[in-house]
Amino acid sequence: MYLGIDLGTSSVKAMLIDAEQTVVGSASSTEVKTARPQAGWSEQDPADWIRATEEAIAGLRAAHPAALAAVRGIGLSGHMHGATLLDAEDRVLRPCIMWNDTRSHREAAALDADPRFRRITGNIVFPGFTAPKLAWVKNNEPDIFAKVRWVLLPKDFLRVWLTGEHMSEMSDSAGTSWLDTGARKWSGELLAATGLEERQMPALVEGTDAAGILRPELAAKWGLGAGIVVAGGAGDNAASACGMGTVREGAAFVSLGTSGVLFAANANYLPNPESAVHAFCHALPGTWHQMGVILSATDALNWHSRVTGASAADLTQELGDALKAPSGVTFLPYLSGERTPHNDAAIRGAFLGLGHESSRTVLTQAVLEGVSFAIRDSLEALKSAGTVLSRVTAIGGGSRSRYWLKSIATALNLPVDLPADGDFGAAFGAARLGLVAATGADPVAVCSAAATAETIEPETALSAAYEDAYQRYRRLYPAIRAAY
Ligand code: XUL
Repeated sequence: MYLGIDLGTSSVKAMLIDAEQTVVGSASSTEVKTARPQAGWSEQDPADWIRATEEAIAGLRAAHPAALAAVRGIGLSGHMHGATLLDAEDRVLRPCIMWNDTRSHREAAALDADPRFRRITGNIVFPGFTAPKLAWVKNNEPDIFAKVRWVLLPKDFLRVWLTGEHMSEMSDSAGTSWLDTGARKWSGELLAATGLEERQMPALVEGTDAAGILRPELAAKWGLGAGIVVAGGAGDNAASACGMGTVREGAAFVSLGTSGVLFAANANYLPNPESAVHAFCHALPGTWHQMGVILSATDALNWHSRVTGASAADLTQELGDALKAPSGVTFLPYLSGERTPHNDAAIRGAFLGLGHESSRTVLTQAVLEGVSFAIRDSLEALKSAGTVLSRVTAIGGGSRSRYWLKSIATALNLPVDLPADGDFGAAFGAARLGLVAATGADPVAVCSAAATAETIEPETALSAAYEDAYQRYRRLYPAIRAAY
C-alpha cells in the first residue's frame, strides 16, 4: 500500500493505493481556513495543516485500518509558492503567506527588474512566488526575517513534522524564484540577492527519490510499520500531472480548480518568461513542464454564486448543457489580479456590455466564458513558448459542468478529454510518487495516462462567434488597465 497526502488550499486529502495502483480509499479533512487580513493578503496557519492531515489520516484509518497498516511509501503534494518560515527550533515564525497573496508586488517587480532572476529561473518573479514574499518580510517584519532559519514550501513543512527532515524536490522549488531551473539546483546568487543563504533552504532531491523516513512516533500512532519512505513528492500541479499521466512530451491538462492551470509536459527545459508562462521542473527526473496560471477559475464562479445567492451548481444548471453563442456581455476574471499572460497584481475583474436584458443566466454564461478565454490566453502563451497542443484532458471541480467543458473546447479549438471515472488528482499522483520512491519502479511506467471516458469536441458552428468574443476580451484588458 502507498499513501498520498495532498495539502490543498481548502483541505487535506489522503489517499491509499495498492501495488496495482487501485484506489483503496481516500479521506479529506474539514476546512483549512484562509485569513485575508488585508486586501490582497492570504495566509494560513501551518499548525492547521498538521491538524487537517491528522484528520484525513484518522478518516482513512477508521475506514481502512488494515490497508493503512500495510503502507510502505508516502508521497506529498501541496499548494505551491507559500512562504513557511521556521526558526532554529523549527518553530513557525508567522502565518504562511500563500500562493494567491499579492502583497509583495513591489518587491516582485524589483527582483524581476534584476535580469539574473529571469535568466536563471526561466520565469517572471511573480508576486505569488516565494522570493518576493521573503523580500516583503525583510522590509516589513525585520525581526522575523532575522530569525528565519528555514524557508520551506507548505508540503515540505509537513515533511518536517512527518520525518524531521528539511528537504524539498524540484517541481515545487521551481516556483520559489531561487531555483536554477535548467540545472535543477538552488542559485546561491539569487538567494543572496534576497538576503538569504543556501543553508536556509531545504536539501533538494527529485520527486521520485526518498526524502525522509516516517517518524516512529507517528508510525506507531497510525498503526504503521517501521522504515516507511516519504518521497520527495511534488507541487500540486506536477503531482496532478503524475496522477493524470501527463508526463510525456506533448501531454497536457487543463485544471479548473480555485485557480486555473493549462499544464504541458516537456522533455526539455523551455523557458519564455516574456509570455508569463511558468517553466518549471517536473516531478520526474530530467523532465520539465510549462503552465499558464490564471488566479480565479472556479473562484470566479464561486464569487458570482456568493453575490447572487444561488449555488454554483444551480447557476450552471440554469444555463443548460447546450453551448450558446457569446451574448455580448464579457467578464474579466481578474478577481485577485492575474498571472498569465498579464503579470498584474493590481488589475481587477469586470463585467462589460451589460443591458436591461442581461439576466443572471447571461452573467453566469459570461463568467464561464471569461475563464475559458483566460485559459485561451494561456494556450497562446504556451504556443509562443514553443508548445503546440493537439488535445487536453480536463480535471478539477469546474470540469463537472458540461457547459464549461464545451466552452473551453470551443475557446481553445481543441478536443477536451474527460478521464474515466476515478480520482486522478494530486493525492493520487503523490501516492504514485510514494510507490516509486519505495519500490524503485520505473516512474514513466507508473505514471501511466488515465483512460478517456469521453471527448468533448469544439462546437464548430460557434467557433467564429467565440473567436470574435475572444478578440473583444483581449482588447478589454489594456483598456481597463489604462483606466485604472
Ligand atoms: C501554481 C499556483 C497554484 C497553486 C494552487 O503556480 O500558484 O496552482 O499551486 O494550489
